[in-house]
Amino acid sequence: MTTSESKVSQTLAALGVTTAEQVQSLFAEVRQLFDEDMSKDAVQILWKELRDKWIGRKSGLLTLIGDNWLKVASPDLKRTVGQELNKLKSHVQEVLSRREAASDSSEAGQSIDLSLPGVLRPIGTHHPIRQVFQEIEDIFFSIGFSVGEGPEIETPYYNFEALNIPEHHPVRDDMDTFYLDLPKGAPGPLLLRTHTSPVQIRTMEKRQPPVRVIVPGKVYRRDNPDATHSFMFHQIEGLAVDTDITFCDFTGTIDYFVKQFFGESVKTRFRPSYFPFTEPSVEFDASCVFCGGTGTAKSGGTCGKCKGSGWIELFGAGMVDPAVYGFVNYDPKKVSGFAFGIGIDRLAMLKYGIDDIQVFFQNDVRFLRQFP
Ligand code: DAH
Repeated sequence: MTTSESKVSQTLAALGVTTAEQVQSLFAEVRQLFDEDMSKDAVQILWKELRDKWIGRKSGLLTLIGDNWLKVASPDLKRTVGQELNKLKSHVQEVLSRREAASDSSEAGQSIDLSLPGVLRPIGTHHPIRQVFQEIEDIFFSIGFSVGEGPEIETPYYNFEALNIPEHHPVRDDMDTFYLDLPKGAPGPLLLRTHTSPVQIRTMEKRQPPVRVIVPGKVYRRDNPDATHSFMFHQIEGLAVDTDITFCDFTGTIDYFVKQFFGESVKTRFRPSYFPFTEPSVEFDASCVFCGGTGTAKSGGTCGKCKGSGWIELFGAGMVDPAVYGFVNYDPKKVSGFAFGIGIDRLAMLKYGIDDIQVFFQNDVRFLRQFP
């Protein structure tokens, strides 16, 4: 302890200080001591120690000066001691806080290692199903279609009846349906739509021809999950109705879509099929995208994807059954049109060579990252 430091533990009387001038020079001495401390290299003396030494609550030098010099000063010196102590305090506070701010920022500076790679904050991407939706929407936008929407909770009327599927029609069996468990007395029944086709009806109820819509959305069926089934999957419904739409417009539109989606070299064909709301109904196939339609795999064996046929089933479609127009007050003698229902998950699986539909719903980033 330097002599100046030891002085603070004695009273002014004991130090022989009796005049204001002596008080001032005593304080000047302490101030100089403080300034010397502050000029020391921060590495030589711990920062916290310095703070404690000067402004520590119990035994910091300023507290000692207050106790030993001010409190017990003789009445004629008290005023000067008080003033000098206040000046010293504000000097100490100011210098300490300036030093502290400087040391904070220099610590922060030390923690930046410019040789380290930056922190990558990955930005999410659209789910592959959403990307396929987008791609298909863009193709149909380019030929004058717009997007329509409808509810996922439907009435049997829109999901079945108005689509020409009466109550005991066997096709309802194909679509094992989730019915909602409604409270007693609630108007019902309600179900989770089994396809996007009800939006055909909802759209035609609202609009007069010409109508050109696609309806992307979720649909639900009571299927047990496996590599090709899921209780929820995705469809895009398509509907075009006008006064002069022909079967050629229909097949030409589908062919255009398939070529845009899978590539110009893909061929299409259709086979007769059955849906209650289309007449005639067809099933569209595309030449197998895996073996180029040859039926033979690169290895020389039979292509496993098309089982050697060279064709892959894509989706159902057809000319809108005139009976459907009856439900929406369109005149079947004046209008004609076509409709289609594309299973998106299946199409995405074909396009990207995915053989398990479940990967779409597991949200494993190792899978999702492959669709940047
Ligand atoms: N709604 C049918 C289904 O989910 C698919 C479908 C077939 C939709 C033919 C259509 C269509 O619009 O014309 O199985």
